Amino acid sequence: MKFEKDFLWGGSIAAHQLEGAYNEGGKGLNTMDLFTSGSYGSPRQVTATIEPDRHYPSHTAIDFYHRYKEDIALFADMGFKALRLSIDWARIFPNGDDAEPNQAGLDFYHRVIDELKKHEIEPIVTLFHFELPMGIVERYDSWLSRETIDLYLKFVKTVVTEYQGKVSRWVTFNEMNHIDPQTDVSDVFTYILAGLEYSQMTNKKQTLATLGYNMTLASVKAVKIIREIDSQNQVGCVFGLAPYYPKTCKPQDALLAFQDTIRDFYQIDAMMLGEFPKYKLFEYKKAGIQLEITEEDRLAFKEGTLDFIGLNYYMSAVSSVESDEKEQEAMFGGEVNPYLEKSDWGWTIDPEGLRYLLNFVYRKYQKPLIICENGLGAVDEISANGEIQDDYRIDYLQKHLTQLKKAVVEDGVECFGYLMWGPIDLVSASTGEMKKRYGFIYVDKHDDGSGDLTRIPKKSYSWYQEMIASGGENL
Ligand code: BG6
Repeated sequence: MKFEKDFLWGGSIAAHQLEGAYNEGGKGLNTMDLFTSGSYGSPRQVTATIEPDRHYPSHTAIDFYHRYKEDIALFADMGFKALRLSIDWARIFPNGDDAEPNQAGLDFYHRVIDELKKHEIEPIVTLFHFELPMGIVERYDSWLSRETIDLYLKFVKTVVTEYQGKVSRWVTFNEMNHIDPQTDVSDVFTYILAGLEYSQMTNKKQTLATLGYNMTLASVKAVKIIREIDSQNQVGCVFGLAPYYPKTCKPQDALLAFQDTIRDFYQIDAMMLGEFPKYKLFEYKKAGIQLEITEEDRLAFKEGTLDFIGLNYYMSAVSSVESDEKEQEAMFGGEVNPYLEKSDWGWTIDPEGLRYLLNFVYRKYQKPLIICENGLGAVDEISANGEIQDDYRIDYLQKHLTQLKKAVVEDGVECFGYLMWGPIDLVSASTGEMKKRYGFIYVDKHDDGSGDLTRIPKKSYSWYQEMIASGGENL
């Protein structure tokens, strides 16, 4: 049993995490350029301006901006069929509201896309992966204003028209789903999505609801525009999802686990079912949250349903009504699962969770899915002979891909690709570290900024290469 021949094996990357060259080619500052590096337990910080004695990892990252040819050649050598990359909005509209796009920015992505096509790697382009021009935060109140939606749509129209014929699969947003008025969130999540810190928000529930609504609306409006430009275009949106398991078989735990899992779905419902969900409006009404929903918005939801759903899967979580604050070490506030191992960054490793999630999402919408991110962040050491023996990563991927195969081959889930995060070591989004490495390709770059940027294939590189060549037959 193997995957279909046209299954899209590959990887996912994001501009701010690997391009570097933050002030080259006419690029403006984006929110991530003012986000310092942190570490596990010591959050990244936002600064109002660039401070000379602080380290901002996006500024140089792994210098993909200048080394993309070498990196793409390595992806091609592994046998990649697709690469998901993001276009940095601030390379195209440096201030966010410029009258004309920045030609040097458009040219850069032409070169990258052409290089991918040369190697027969399909580019799948994310239009928003946390790269928000600072001008939009400063002058338009980020995603809290409707002007920002219009500026985003102008950016979308510009790039989709520019790369028409070269790119046909588009992703409107990456992981807009982590903010919800029902729960407290960390500053990191609200900052990476909207350039705003949760702790500084005055009316937290209302602000989160407005951000979530406006981004959802921006996505459905973008879908329509992308299809109008070329009817061959396929449009998806990517969500970061985690199944929650009940801690006990107490019905209250089961109910809570259901509520925790489903909380991240209201935007997917809005994008798949043609209207902003009534249950969410009911919840907002009870909480005193007001949304301005116009007739034009209602039409946009009807017209902007997605062709596919992208899933980012890293971990599962546990729900308990008797939850003890101290036990809540797991990410997203869930309890620790004693049956699962954790990564060095405390993320549970749960391959079966991937099969669970794929079935859950597929049976809800019955539309094509693609895994847009999955991978293991770990500390990699170079041994004396210069090799990187990352057997733990091979083990992680082997187990997750086995579950993916079961979902596809045994359960009938329509999943058309697996894009591993991040195929080359890059900056961690949540901690800003280089030390948290995901890649098949090691990059000599360290948290103090040192390193000569040499690329070294790890042991997992050949493993993935063989896996792709066999179509997953050996899983
Ligand atoms: C996803 C993001 O949530 O998780 C990526 O889309 C991110 O941008 C990835 O890099 C892994 O998280 P981290 O914090 O380990 O980089």
